[in-house]
Amino acid sequence: MRLASRPMEPIETARLTLEPWSEAHREPFRRMTLDPQVVRYVAHGEPWDEQLAEERFQAGITLNRERGYGRWALLERATGGWAGLVILQPVGPGTEGVDPEAVEVGWCVEPAVWGRGYATESACAVVAAGFGAHGLDRIWARIAPPNAASARVAVKLGMEKVSTTRNPFGMDADIYLLDRPA
Ligand SMILES: CC(C)(COP(=O)(O)OP(=O)(O)OC[C@H]1O[C@@H](n2cnc3c(N)ncnc32)[C@H](O)[C@@H]1OP(=O)(O)O)[C@@H](O)C(=O)NCCC(=O)NCCS
Repeated sequence: MRLASRPMEPIETARLTLEPWSEAHREPFRRMTLDPQVVRYVAHGEPWDEQLAEERFQAGITLNRERGYGRWALLERATGGWAGLVILQPVGPGTEGVDPEAVEVGWCVEPAVWGRGYATESACAVVAAGFGAHGLDRIWARIAPPNAASARVAVKLGMEKVSTTRNPFGMDADIYLLDRPA
């Protein structure tokens, strides 16, 4: 297995610390995956069972170790509190028309702090790292068509909607793209 050359460092943004995914994030992540308003437009759209949550939790740990990017917890610097997570990861198999190796950005913010710009702020930082330190040429996003807040985040990042497909659970997914700035 190829390992990242050095352990990931936290990323600091104006109001957030993006902390590399670790055991400390298992419980707050699990709690979010049980919240119907959080998962409404994620995966199959229903609260996650233990197995799916654990698979995704572990995938974040493995990705970070192997690639030096993958998944970060969002911590509000003012309070130190958990504010959600941001992802930069291969799309993986099962999304029609998308190369499983294509790298996507994703976001999930604690409902108590929705609307403060945290998804956009954190995603901007990991997209910059993707195009910078990690040498990506293109970043994708998959967004359920009714998920207007998420679509707005993608547009604020400069992403463009290019097509609609289905995610591995059979749910409609709009595909957004962002190319590395010239
Ligand atoms: C999508 C999500 C991450 C957005 O987080 P956030 O921190 O509130 O996002 P931001 O504040 O950075 O931006 C949200 C934008 O959407 C807009 N918005 C919010 N609800 C909206 C709605 N129902 N219709 C249209 N726009 C909406 C906000 O006004 C804001 O845009 P603005 O800055 O132009 O005013 C958050 O709602 C969430 O975690 N949802 C559940 C998980 C999820 O669906 N993740 C995405 C999977 S693709």
